[in-house]
Amino acid sequence: MTGNDELGRLAAPDLTPTGLAARGWDRASLRAYLATGTAVPAVASDEMLKVVNLSTSRLDGKDLDAIATYLTGDSPRPAAALARPAGAAAPSPAQDRYFALCAGCHGRDGRDGRDGQGVPHVAPALHGNSSLRDANPHNLIAAILDGLPEHDLPGLERMQDMPGFGEQLDDAQVAELANWLRARYGGRDEPVLADRVHALRSATPESEHR
Ligand code: HEC
Repeated sequence: MTGNDELGRLAAPDLTPTGLAARGWDRASLRAYLATGTAVPAVASDEMLKVVNLSTSRLDGKDLDAIATYLTGDSPRPAAALARPAGAAAPSPAQDRYFALCAGCHGRDGRDGRDGQGVPHVAPALHGNSSLRDANPHNLIAAILDGLPEHDLPGLERMQDMPGFGEQLDDAQVAELANWLRARYGGRDEPVLADRVHALRSATPESEHR
């Protein structure tokens, strides 16, 4: 796998052992993700949700172990600790926007002493989320612009849908929010530029606008 192949609107991330560990995955979280569609680093979306619902959630424990072992390699690396880039805690207009637009579902700083906690059965935690830790900001930008559909996960678990914010936020505001989220909850400080947001916004087929 070379990683970052585009699967529809969302990009398939790097699944090499190094790429997975860098985004916070280890064997246990991968196994949980394949079995249930949810794990600390991510909730399955899009094409991966179909894979989990139709296939991996139906595997038995031994097969799940085998896939998780295959993906993480013979000498698995521990999930990389989350870096805390300088300036990650600096207040910014993006922080206010996060509180106004996102925190109602994804959790607000300090509510129970943890950053970015999700609300169970409503939305996943963003602290340490794989999309925020990915060097490629594609999926984070797409989630902010388009939102994400409602999910029925294996068993009785489900996640509500996430609204898109493409109409409320301009390219610079989306980039600023992505930068703040990546620094604060994803340990990344390479800047996301407004041009990148613009390119993804322009690539949205009309049919995807809601
Ligand atoms: C109405 C509730 C709601 C609001 C408001 C909301 N989200 Fe979400 N968000 C969700 C849900 C539910 C999911 C999981 C759904 C999915 O993965 O399809 C999600 C998923 C995500 C993901 C992907 C997580 C993953 O594991 O793949 C990101 C990134 C994200 N939201 C960022 C944001 C940002 C940034 C904002 C504010 C601009 C925001 N969300 C506002 C409900 C919400």
